[in-house]
Amino acid sequence: MLIRTPQEDIERVLFTREQIAARVAALGTELTRRLNGERPIMVCILKGAAFFFADLCRAMACDVDTDFLSVSSYGTAATSSGAVRLVRDLSQDVSGRRVVLVEDVIDSGLTMQYLRNLFAQRKAAEVITVSFLDKANCHPPKHAADLLGFSVGDEFLVGYGLDYAEHYRNLPDVGVLRSECYAETESV
Ligand code: IMP
Ligand code: MG
Repeated sequence: MLIRTPQEDIERVLFTREQIAARVAALGTELTRRLNGERPIMVCILKGAAFFFADLCRAMACDVDTDFLSVSSYGTAATSSGAVRLVRDLSQDVSGRRVVLVEDVIDSGLTMQYLRNLFAQRKAAEVITVSFLDKANCHPPKHAADLLGFSVGDEFLVGYGLDYAEHYRNLPDVGVLRSECYAETESV
């Protein structure tokens, strides 16, 4: 039997693990400086941001509280449904706290917009948004993340937490998926 590895489905690596590590270290330093000694609630948007979140938290020099939520947006396909819904909530109250929202990639910006509103309603003292990637050439223009890892084009990316139909999350580098791979797994 011929076994194809996930790496073989990558057409082109966009960011290597070394480039990612250097950028995340810089983001951790910047975030620590902004927080100025205050202990934030670091909120991981599951599942995509999990790898970035773990590295970012470890790159910070201050004490942090961690929490997790998940929203539904993309399902298993590579196209957005447009609707955002909270499917798993935090385990604590955010009122009066500084919240750092950590996302893997901002595409239309709908997920971040929904969560910013949610935390404003819940009376968070401040919401700082951090995204590993941002698809910059999106129309109409959206609210940018306060801190950004890398700006990218319109290609569909996988690795370092980003998935296609729940595959490829554990690839250490970020890359562009071969187009044949969509045809094989597309289900929606
Ligand atoms: P938005 O609400 O349109 O900004 O979509 C954000 C979500 O879409 C992210 O959290 C990802 O789960 C997903 N997404 C957008 N682009 C990509 C991609 O290139 N690869 C994997 N997931 C993506
Ligand atoms: Mg995501």
